[in-house]
Amino acid sequence: MSITERDKKYVAGTYNRFPVEIASGSGSVVYDTAGKRYIDLGSGIGVTAFGIADPLWQEAVTRQIGLVQHMSNLYYTGPCVDLAEMLCTRTGMSKVFFSNSGAEANECAIKVARKYQAEHKGPECSTIVTLKNSFHGRTLTTLAATGQDHYHELFTPLTPGFLSVDPDFTELPDPDRVAAILIECIQGEGGVIPLPQDTVRRIADYAAAHDILLMVDEVQTGNGRTGALYAYMNYGIHPDVVSTAKGLAGGLPLGATLLSEKVSGTLGFGDHGSTFGGNPVSCAAALSVLSRIDDSLLASVREKGQYLMDSFMDAPGVESVSGMGLMIGIKCRRNAGDVVREALSKGVLCLTAKDRVRLLPALNIPMDILKEAVDILKECIAG
Ligand SMILES: Cc1ncc(COP(=O)(O)O)c(C=O)c1O
Repeated sequence: MSITERDKKYVAGTYNRFPVEIASGSGSVVYDTAGKRYIDLGSGIGVTAFGIADPLWQEAVTRQIGLVQHMSNLYYTGPCVDLAEMLCTRTGMSKVFFSNSGAEANECAIKVARKYQAEHKGPECSTIVTLKNSFHGRTLTTLAATGQDHYHELFTPLTPGFLSVDPDFTELPDPDRVAAILIECIQGEGGVIPLPQDTVRRIADYAAAHDILLMVDEVQTGNGRTGALYAYMNYGIHPDVVSTAKGLAGGLPLGATLLSEKVSGTLGFGDHGSTFGGNPVSCAAALSVLSRIDDSLLASVREKGQYLMDSFMDAPGVESVSGMGLMIGIKCRRNAGDVVREALSKGVLCLTAKDRVRLLPALNIPMDILKEAVDILKECIAG
């Protein structure tokens, strides 16, 4: 049986895979089993921050695998504490809870909000406000947070206590019942739609005025993706809670929920936990990734992002370009799925987000490879 047939037979059918088996790669280039070369502009949906099989990342991971690959959270491990310290130092947050994925990082944020407000304003103050068109994960609670009804169908009842409001935040919720507002500064799965500066400011002011927690989902936008360490830093706000995952460990599972001073004491002994959370190999990988996301790398992410914006803005077949840094959405006259399929056949891997072609290349993609991919993609978009 072919891999396609065996996948169909044995793997739950939740993914509409392209008919390509990726076998190996280096940086922003990958090869399929037939030896065909592809330029990777998707980086595993924003995960492989420094590309495939990056030597520094490999060294950090293999070194830690040779020391200790896992230890229960009953004991201390160095990489976990080093990473928590690095995250706090670089963001000004106070504590970190580690998990394994974006959905889990958001679950933790939601638990923190519920407990903090139960203790401060009372247990009836439990509503988590999110924005329509948002995406926060696939668990039943993060689906409830996700402001897109089609993800909910046939999975109800979801966790109660969520309210999705318009992304322009003009329809104000009753503040007495609201524990927290959870936003993505750029709605990723929703089509790479950055929230306007003034909207984010209004949300932050509203939250501060009513002692509502401001929580930012940086699962996709975080870890250098937008040209700032975290996207909220582009908006001049100070969230109470930040969740992140995806690119954090550059290709290993790791979620992190960053807690500001205000909520740093909320989770106490026994309130939350995770068998794999803070795994030393994932944390060693993340230490390597984060230590390379410095000012010069961030400046190059912004430059390459601007290059992508300029390249596609007036290109034939393009209606509009959105995004920030190396998180780009291209609205094409052609169907986005058709563009992505044609790009694949011509050796470029990219993604869709709603009706847009979405690009999330590795943060260190070399300029010549990026240019080669842009030329191919422009041809596909022009049709
Ligand atoms: C903004 C955002 N939050 C949460 C998630 C869920 O992350 P995970 O798939 O790691 O659970 C995603 C995944 O795409 C995301 O983009």
